[in-house]
Amino acid sequence: MDNPFEEGENRLLRPPSTAMVIFGATGDLTQRKLLPALYNLAYDGFLPTDFIVMGASRTKLSDEAFRERSRESVEAHSRRPVEEKVWQDFAKRIFYQPLDATKKSDFEVLRDRLEDISLGGIENFHFLFYLATSPSFFGHIAANLKSVDLVIDPELDERRTILIVEKPFGNDLESAAELNKTLQSHLDEKQIYRIDHYLGKETVQNILVFRFSNGIFEPLWNRRYVDHIQISVCESIGVGSRAKYFDQTGILRDIIQNHLLQVLSLLCIEPPNSLSDPDSIRDEKVKVLRALKRFSLSDISERTVRGQYTSGFISGDPVIGYRQESNIDSGSQTETFAALTLEIENWRWAGVPIYVRAGKRLPKRITEISVSFKPVPHSLFRGRDMPNILPNLLTIQIQPREGISFRVNSKPPGPRMRANPVVMDFLYNDSYGVRSPEAYERLLLDAMKGDATLFTRNDEIEESWSFLEPLLNHWSADEEQQVFPYEAGSWGPSKASELLAPLGHRWRRL
Ligand code: BG6
Repeated sequence: MDNPFEEGENRLLRPPSTAMVIFGATGDLTQRKLLPALYNLAYDGFLPTDFIVMGASRTKLSDEAFRERSRESVEAHSRRPVEEKVWQDFAKRIFYQPLDATKKSDFEVLRDRLEDISLGGIENFHFLFYLATSPSFFGHIAANLKSVDLVIDPELDERRTILIVEKPFGNDLESAAELNKTLQSHLDEKQIYRIDHYLGKETVQNILVFRFSNGIFEPLWNRRYVDHIQISVCESIGVGSRAKYFDQTGILRDIIQNHLLQVLSLLCIEPPNSLSDPDSIRDEKVKVLRALKRFSLSDISERTVRGQYTSGFISGDPVIGYRQESNIDSGSQTETFAALTLEIENWRWAGVPIYVRAGKRLPKRITEISVSFKPVPHSLFRGRDMPNILPNLLTIQIQPREGISFRVNSKPPGPRMRANPVVMDFLYNDSYGVRSPEAYERLLLDAMKGDATLFTRNDEIEESWSFLEPLLNHWSADEEQQVFPYEAGSWGPSKASELLAPLGHRWRRL
């Protein structure tokens, strides 16, 4: 296949020939995220020279109809405008196959179509299968792919088969372990890529670059100098069309079990040996998860708060409460906000409180990490009129403002000895002048290259579920711990401040 960007400088970054099949091709994720991400990879010249993407789902559609849908989605959701030449080249690579995920015969047809499209050259392609369906189909798809020889044995052939699995990966420890077992009965663990799109965000990857390429922070990155850490994942949106899913899930499973714990583990890992082996970093991440102080029945209520939004205002517009959303039970106890005090019990972090919170219908969308350093051991300026001296604070802004700020104290000009906190700011936009790629672009590209570093391993998933298990059990036992209401457009229930109060800390004002 010819490609307008073949001679561009990016050709060295191109992955090898790949046939990608997206199961759940008519669904929201494919339309809003996956196709726009693939289009942007095509735009940048990052797609393999020989590339096929086949949509598969139950709906009956022709290739042409699927291409038209795809174009609409890309026009609506791509970070770049659709350029005709790039689109035409990309569209030639898009195909569609109606398929019932539970029927082996449909997978035989799928295999034959891949053969036809590649003009008999399918043995030159790596396979990338993306599971963007309901989790109830994950096992069927893996089994059927295997039974029609679309899973290539890595021992026998150098071609890769990669299965990307979307969240939710289980609903608790037992179901996640069961799903791992099912998938591993059809594929090798190295072929299973569990996606957490937060790991594809530029600002999340930058945590590693920031920590391990700037020597000055490492000596400070521990309990001697860090006073406490906060991680906030705040959203202003409610549950919208995902109400049914969300009501069975809650924010603890939807955000904290995956995105937030992944960010936390990157922030707190020990330096890995190298980045050339995906496992060196994943080995370190799982150690952080293992070291998280477990919840006990006696400390759950001091270390956790859950909340649920009531009606209120977001950016001046009235919004309804959670229990009034359609498809939500009027007595639902599902949490739309959660705040937890965590601790990593190891030599580096023991005793440092890590406060995390996540919620829907908060005043704005913002994800931020803040690392508060301890105050100076002895102030030279005591007794002088200097109320403004504040401990140093490093904030890593994941979104929407992408950057890193560092607060230091400085002397304002003038004859008096005074101090004032000022902020040193790095902003992606100012330094690089480009809009960061979407997380899915990076992750799809890595998967095409067979690089699993930014995907979650089976033990990480099971460890995070195991850590949350006591809390999930406690919260699901009716009446055990109250769900505190908070007004939509507020920063969550006021009770959440009590988590920080014993040590005199406060949530960052975002
Ligand atoms: C998804 C959750 O994984 O992440 C959603 O299921 C949430 O509920 C979304 O809105 C947030 O992603 P982002 O990239 O917008 O922060």
